[in-house]
Amino acid sequence: MKEFDVKTKIYFGENALKRLSELKTDKAFVVADPFVVRSGLIDFVIDPLKEANIDYYIFSDVVPDPPLEKVVKGVSEALDFGAEYIVAIGGGSAMDTSKAIRKFAGKINGAFTPKLVCIPTTSGTGSEVTSFAVLSDVKNNAKIPLASEDMVPDEAILDEVLVKSVPPEITADTGMDTLTHAIEAYVSVNNNEFSGALAEKAVEICGQFLLRSYNYNGDAHARRKVHIASCLAGLAFNSASLGLCHGMAHQLGAQFHIAHGRANAILLPHIIEYNSEIGAFGRSKKSYPPCVRKYCNMARVLGVNNLNEVTTIRAFVSYIQYLMMEMSVPLNISEMGRISREDYEAKIDIMAKAALADACTATNPRVPSLDEIKEIYRAIW
Ligand SMILES: NC(=O)c1ccc[n+]([C@@H]2O[C@H](COP(=O)([O-])OP(=O)(O)OC[C@H]3O[C@@H](n4cnc5c(N)ncnc54)[C@H](O)[C@@H]3O)[C@@H](O)[C@H]2O)c1
Ligand SMILES: [Fe+2]
Repeated sequence: MKEFDVKTKIYFGENALKRLSELKTDKAFVVADPFVVRSGLIDFVIDPLKEANIDYYIFSDVVPDPPLEKVVKGVSEALDFGAEYIVAIGGGSAMDTSKAIRKFAGKINGAFTPKLVCIPTTSGTGSEVTSFAVLSDVKNNAKIPLASEDMVPDEAILDEVLVKSVPPEITADTGMDTLTHAIEAYVSVNNNEFSGALAEKAVEICGQFLLRSYNYNGDAHARRKVHIASCLAGLAFNSASLGLCHGMAHQLGAQFHIAHGRANAILLPHIIEYNSEIGAFGRSKKSYPPCVRKYCNMARVLGVNNLNEVTTIRAFVSYIQYLMMEMSVPLNISEMGRISREDYEAKIDIMAKAALADACTATNPRVPSLDEIKEIYRAIW
């Protein structure tokens, strides 16, 4: 038996942030990205809370790839303050921090059961609608992906006004994260008609608007579309899960602190080639793995499908690489210029083992061996 549901109520469109002034509470614990506080974006949250006479406390000790230590600190401050609502504003890191704070604080004190409202300020992770949070074990250079139904936010608010300030590099990385979510969910062994529809729409929007929002920071229409695509892709992978690309990207983030979306982008063309068994010099065959038809559908949505499976997969991979080059995303690790080949090679074994064990890898359409994963890590150097 399969099931599909959307637990999160999504507010979007004009004045969506006004929802905050309607919260039925007198206390809100706000988890905010430090940039959001510094830049004054936080006022978009604070003003409606003040308007509704809601007392608030701001926890802004949020860092990218949230370490466990920061969550522990947040749990202690949340329990001291004791709110009925947690409002998170920021990128995936702030939202994941808030999800973990709510979960662990509730375990310590069973009476602490706040509702969670997530407000993304990047367009990438879709964390505002998912049951996932990715924490970091800094001492052991490891990522800890958590997944549980009780982490799904109760509400999400999408307002493009919050993403206008995202600089081009982060627009590119987070946009590639969205694209990867949609593509991996689409070919996941857990895919279904509902997740498929969401993933197709997310990819269609990325094809039309991602470059536009990268090239013209203030293009509110493009920003709004990509912000919604990120959420659609989040809903898709919340239902279908992800794949080997994320399983391997988590290890690049843990070992070399490569931004999550960038790590996915570098891997994605290689994962498509690996899953479809169609490499750079692919020849046509009598039959292909089932994921090839799905990748070809995605290529059609993007308008780059042509002659047959081989030419379409090649065009699909080229399109992704074209997007990356247009947005100055490095195509491989060496192009980044800050990691030595020796350091990289030294970590391949440990990364491959962790990628094989990563929960995302379990739903990849092709079951990888340890050696195959190592080969892909070598290929992206
Ligand atoms: N829970 C999920 O479902 C899920 C899915 C994918 C990724 N993730 C996790 O999310 C994290 C990545 O999230 P992210 O890509 O959103 O990045 P992020 O939250 O780490 O933010 C990246 C940078 O962007 C800045 N920033 C945020 N909003 C901004 C704005 N409006 N203007 C200018 N700068 C802004 C932040 O200060 C930070 O320096 C990773 O830890 C990743 O593992 C979680
Ligand atoms: Fe992701």
